[in-house]
Amino acid sequence: MKIAMIGTGYVGLVSGVCFSDFGHEVICVDKDPRKIEMLERGEVPIYEPGLDVLMNKNVEAGRLSFTLDLKSAIDGANAVFIAVGTPTRRGDGHADLTYVMAAAEEIARTAKQYVVIVTKSTVPVGTNAKVRDVVATANPNLDFDVASNPEFLREGAAIDDFMKPDRVVVGVETERATQVMADIYRPLYLRDFPIVTTDLESAEMIKYAANAFLATKITFINEIAALCEKVGADIKSVSKGMGMDGRIGNKFLHAGPGYGGSCFPKDTKALARIGQDHASPISIVETVIKVNEDVKRRMIEKLTDLCGGSFNGKTVAVLGVTFKPNTDDMRDAPSLTIVPALVGGGAKVRVVDPQGKREGEHLLPGATWTNDPYAAAESADLLVILTEWNEFRALDLSRIAGSMKNAVLGDLRNVYSAETAREAGFTAYDSIGRKGYPFSGAMG
Ligand SMILES: NC(=O)c1ccc[n+]([C@@H]2O[C@H](COP(=O)([O-])OP(=O)(O)OC[C@H]3O[C@@H](n4cnc5c(N)ncnc54)[C@H](O)[C@@H]3O)[C@@H](O)[C@H]2O)c1
Repeated sequence: MKIAMIGTGYVGLVSGVCFSDFGHEVICVDKDPRKIEMLERGEVPIYEPGLDVLMNKNVEAGRLSFTLDLKSAIDGANAVFIAVGTPTRRGDGHADLTYVMAAAEEIARTAKQYVVIVTKSTVPVGTNAKVRDVVATANPNLDFDVASNPEFLREGAAIDDFMKPDRVVVGVETERATQVMADIYRPLYLRDFPIVTTDLESAEMIKYAANAFLATKITFINEIAALCEKVGADIKSVSKGMGMDGRIGNKFLHAGPGYGGSCFPKDTKALARIGQDHASPISIVETVIKVNEDVKRRMIEKLTDLCGGSFNGKTVAVLGVTFKPNTDDMRDAPSLTIVPALVGGGAKVRVVDPQGKREGEHLLPGATWTNDPYAAAESADLLVILTEWNEFRALDLSRIAGSMKNAVLGDLRNVYSAETAREAGFTAYDSIGRKGYPFSGAMG
């Protein structure tokens, strides 16, 4: 199969590389010349573990290439995937479909022979039908089908998720498109990975419903964590005890500083808007969005307490600013709320993140970047763990506590425990949904 992939971001590049590894001929297109230049040099513009090796292997095998020129990519392609961004539209919470529709029009103007136009971007119900109409209007003579193929990969584990998916979802309207999609995914089908084939609208809905459900699960445990703090329960035990129930499962039950990232915030907002527009509100999701904002605010209160009521004049070291470990993605990361609150409150903020600097530097004005957690913590009044990178899981806490002006730890990912912190010499420790010490006003 010959595949054109429009968009070489987190989803487009991973999908393109993995399809080429299946043995398909793939051309990835982007309109950003900087990205295409990097890719042509064999460099990956994003941080995704293992992607550089797999990409260069398939380039060398002659199955994978990159271009700015959509026309050459589409020429002779059996399928064109749209994997462009669908951010929140400014002002109303809807998904912004500008990039998807622009890509659809470009395909319509360029394609010459039968092609399946596959939307991989996360799009509201009805978008694939709109893509069909846009293409048919722009090029009435084109022989084509549309297909919906939402993506479920997680940044940081994207290659494994793509190569070993829980399921592949395909929404189609014709037998011909079904056959093309089956040919593309045959390598997974042959290895018994399930393929759910359905109509366009159901495929579109599956993606939003799945993401909203996961965001709800995280938000649920975050609210339970807040209650645990009040009643003296320990959220780690609670999550463990709940997660062992096969009907619940242990994934997405880790309390933290609120969900962020490139998907959950925008997809929950978009689903809430779709519900409102159809007079069928998804009240649970509307509440999840609100509670998640409250969770982030609660984190700021926690840190304020640990600083004795004010950030003013304090030095704070923040470990981790990406929205989760193993990615450089900063989109809607909790750090984007928490670090500005620290800076705005008058704190000197030092930031450490293994991959976040390139994106984060301009998003977190006023923060100073360093590569070393120990240097960041030196003479500081507060150490905050905000993203649980592996590098931060086995720190020499005694060394850190010994070098700080006020040995205070705000562990917003529950990486350590109150006992460990106390033994290391921290005078105050707080985390999520567990007992800290002293309970407030650490610095008096
Ligand atoms: N990032 C994730 O973890 C993830 C997971 C599942 C689904 N999704 C969905 O996949 C879609 C893409 O997300 P992403 O994170 O990869 O986005 P991204 O912003 O990283 O990448 C989008 C890319 O598309 C390019 N682009 C935009 N318009 C173009 C055009 N007309 N022609 C060529 N290139 C164009 C941009 O330059 C950019 O490189 C979104 O709808 C997102 O919701 C993302």
